[in-house]
Amino acid sequence: MANELIAWSDDFLVGNSVIDGQHKELVRMTNECWAGCRIGGVVAKVSFLKAIQGAVLYVKTHFATEEEFMRKARYPLFAAHKKQHEDFVAEVAAQIRVFESEDNPNPTAFVEYLMHWILEHIANSDKKYMPYTAKVQL
Ligand SMILES: [Fe+2]
Repeated sequence: MANELIAWSDDFLVGNSVIDGQHKELVRMTNECWAGCRIGGVVAKVSFLKAIQGAVLYVKTHFATEEEFMRKARYPLFAAHKKQHEDFVAEVAAQIRVFESEDNPNPTAFVEYLMHWILEHIANSDKKYMPYTAKVQL
């Protein structure tokens, strides 16, 4: 099994160094969550929760940055994009609550959900604002 769940690829770049740097950090944090869930047992639960809580804080900062950029760029799909961010934050919070309440939680499916959402969101939503990134300074 690979040590990393997601290997960073320059295909993920959206053309703004601040946002791209944050995306790289998100990939790193998702890999950290993945490493946390592979330890096993009680340690896995504690280590995973610590990693996921750090990731949630970081995601909120990142979404705020992206939303500031989209506002400044007068990005036409801003409202729909912001809604995706809000739905994701709510879904992750709900999954953390379920995770905390279980005696033997299996974080693997949770991390896989994070991975799929992040990769899909960058590829299908973030990439769409790429034509606007050159115009806006963050
Ligand atoms: Fe986004």
